[in-house]
Amino acid sequence: MKTIVVSNRKGGSAKTTTAVNIASGLAKHGSVLLLDFDTQGHASIGVGCDLDEHLGVHSIFDGKTLSETFIPTVHENLTLSPALVFFDVYDYSDLSGVLKNRFKREKIADFFDYCVIDTPPTFDALLKNSLEVADIVLIPFVPHHLGVVAVGQMMRALYKSASDFNRKIAEVFILPVMFNPHVNEHKDSLEKVKISFGKSKLLSPIGIDIKLAQQFETGTPITLDTKRSKGLKDYSRCVSEILAKLEVKG
Ligand SMILES: Nc1ncnc2c1ncn2[C@@H]1O[C@H](COP(=O)(O)OP(=O)(O)OP(=O)(O)O)[C@@H](O)[C@H]1O
Ligand SMILES: [Mg+2]
Repeated sequence: MKTIVVSNRKGGSAKTTTAVNIASGLAKHGSVLLLDFDTQGHASIGVGCDLDEHLGVHSIFDGKTLSETFIPTVHENLTLSPALVFFDVYDYSDLSGVLKNRFKREKIADFFDYCVIDTPPTFDALLKNSLEVADIVLIPFVPHHLGVVAVGQMMRALYKSASDFNRKIAEVFILPVMFNPHVNEHKDSLEKVKISFGKSKLLSPIGIDIKLAQQFETGTPITLDTKRSKGLKDYSRCVSEILAKLEVKG
C-alpha cells in the first residue's frame, strides 16, 4: 500500500478537493482507503458521507480500531474513514504514533493498494500521525505570493519534523491549483516554486473549474464523473503523474 498525505498549513488551498479526487481517481486503479483527518469533515462530504451517523478516523485516539470506522462510498473501490466532527486534538496530551500503530496491528496494507489522507490546515498531532505513514506528501497551493510562501513554510516544517523524529522524509510533490495560465502572477509563482524546489517536484497544474466546487453538493468526486470537464481532465492527469512517481519510487 502506498500512502499519500495531502497537506498545506494554508487554509483553502484545495487540499480536500485534491484528496477526494485523487482518492477516487486512484480507485480506478486499485482499492483505496480515504482517511478524513480534518474535523471539518469536508472530504467525507465529498464522497457522499452523512457525517453525523458514524464513528470517525479520530476514534482511533479513543481506542477504537481503524477498521471499525470504515464505511463504503459512492465507489466500490473507495472506502472512507470519515471525520469525527467534535474531536479536539487539544484534549489529548500524547497522540503520537497511533495511526502508524493501527496500520501495523490491523495489517491495513493487506487490504488496500492506496491510502489518501486529507489533513487539517494546521501542523498538529493529526498531521504528524499522517506523516508517520506517508510515502508521498502532496502540497496543493494557489499560485499567489502567499501560496509560494506557504509552500516554503511547509517544506521547512516537513524537514524539521522528519529530523526531530529521526524519520526519513516522505517524497514531497507540489501541486499548483486554481491555476490560470493567462495570469502573470500565477505563471511567476510557478517559476519561483520551480527555482526554489526543482522542476521534478512540481506536478502539472489544476485549472479553475466550478464543477470542482459543485461536486461537494452531490457527494460525487469529479474523477468519477463520466462527463468530460476540465476538472476531470486535470485531476486524471494528476493521478497518472502520481502513479508514475510511485512507480519510480518502487
Ligand atoms: N480547481 C478549482 N476550481 C474551482 N474551485 C476550486 C478548485 N479547487 C478548490 N476549489 C474550491 O476552493 C475552496 C477551497 O478548497 P478546499 O476546501 O479543497 O481547500 P482546503 O485546503 O481543503 O481548505 P481547508 O484548509 O479549509 O481544509 C472550496 O470551496 C473548493 O470547492
Ligand atoms: Mg480541507
